[in-house]
Amino acid sequence: MNQEKVDKIIDRYSAKEGKGILIQLLLDIQNEFNWLPGEAIVQISERLQVPVSQIYRIASFYKVMSLAPIGRHLIQVCLGTACHVRGGPKILDKVEECLKIKTDETTSDMKFTVRRVNCLGCCALGPVMVVDNDYHGKITTVKVKEILESYD
Ligand code: FES
Repeated sequence: MNQEKVDKIIDRYSAKEGKGILIQLLLDIQNEFNWLPGEAIVQISERLQVPVSQIYRIASFYKVMSLAPIGRHLIQVCLGTACHVRGGPKILDKVEECLKIKTDETTSDMKFTVRRVNCLGCCALGPVMVVDNDYHGKITTVKVKEILESYD
């Protein structure tokens, strides 16, 4: 982790006040490092005089924030009702099988992280899997491997 980068991000917010400031700051750190390193949380706590526990509470609440390193590509498999009845669980099983990891884990080469979500708002396309910002709808277990191989 680069402490200078964290300091620069904190600088953007140190003079501001308000409830949403800490959330914005954490989102910027998340975007910069692709996760929230513990050292960055301590740095924020010391500079802004905010308890570490408060920062962890926020970071744990928002799904877009990660307290563990995540892969270059984030895979989200929908298991909401519509996707569930159309085979979402089989899609998740296939992803786990292809990558040899379980949900919420990251491959050892840091390429993929897998998560399950409850609805992505496009139920008519179910079952749906999202890789980064790419929506793959009406997918089958056969297509999963092909989709995963298309990412560097
Ligand atoms: S249930 Fe999967 S997109 Fe809505």
